[in-house]
Amino acid sequence: MAETTARYWGRTDLVRIVLDALQAAGKDLDRLDIDDLAATDQFHGGGRPATLRLAELAGLRGPAEAGAGPRVLDVGGGLGGPARTLAARYGCTVTVIDLTESYVDAARELTTRARYADRVSHLVGNALDLPFEDHSFDVVWTQNSGMNIADKDTLYRGMHRVLRPGGTLAFQEPLAGPAGDPHFPLMWADRPELSFLWRDHELRALVAAVGFEEQVWELVSEAAAIASAPAPPPHAVQRLIMGDERLTAIAAANRRNLAEDRIATVHAVFHKPTPETA
Ligand SMILES: C[S@@+](CC[C@H](N)C(=O)[O-])C[C@H]1O[C@@H](n2cnc3c(N)ncnc32)[C@H](O)[C@@H]1O
Repeated sequence: MAETTARYWGRTDLVRIVLDALQAAGKDLDRLDIDDLAATDQFHGGGRPATLRLAELAGLRGPAEAGAGPRVLDVGGGLGGPARTLAARYGCTVTVIDLTESYVDAARELTTRARYADRVSHLVGNALDLPFEDHSFDVVWTQNSGMNIADKDTLYRGMHRVLRPGGTLAFQEPLAGPAGDPHFPLMWADRPELSFLWRDHELRALVAAVGFEEQVWELVSEAAAIASAPAPPPHAVQRLIMGDERLTAIAAANRRNLAEDRIATVHAVFHKPTPETA
């Protein structure tokens, strides 16, 4: 399954594609900052504002000195936009794990060029087999990656294991709506075999069963973000990865899915109890 998912997302020569697009957009490749990158490296509904909203809900506060903020693991962190944002805004040290090698290569390049390599690191790996010691992170973070993962029990148990007691799990995740199966293509899947959406009460119950305490569970509408957004610029990540024709089909299916209540998105924050409070 992991190989199929990585093949779905992966793109040959992505570093060059991304750098060319940034240059064509007038960005100075030797002086990139997180503002230059926002359209290109935040690969989820709502873009950077959604990342900042989730950070706020998770109680991250800034600005903190570089490296003085929490240790964060970003699971399925893609091109690293959320990770660099957390490092820049809240002084976090962020480890990003992602299945798709070409994304990790591009993410490293952007992190180096934006001068965050001392605080943000990227590795290829599977969210279902996190290669970290128990209790290694203060925050486990993920945006729009769980919808590709069938085995959610293993996913959330792994996140619980690597989080320190007292730590925070924060996620943005697409959910199944009440009206039944979604229309395809979705951004994360061109066919049902690649998409694993759960209803909100199912996911909530699973995360609690794994041992987390719920602090925030808010349904947020990708509809607002997408329907009201201007057409994405040529260097938008969705255009670079999907291409214009496919993106048009994805946007049309997304509008139908939202209008017909077939998908939703949640911003959620959970707490891992300490042994004393558990
Ligand atoms: C829509 S992108 C989101 C990227 C990033 N979280 C962001 O918001 O910018 C989905 C990401 O999930 C990653 N992914 C999917 N399944 C994964 C798995 N089992 N382990 C690690 N990463 C996974 C993909 O490689 C892809 O980078």
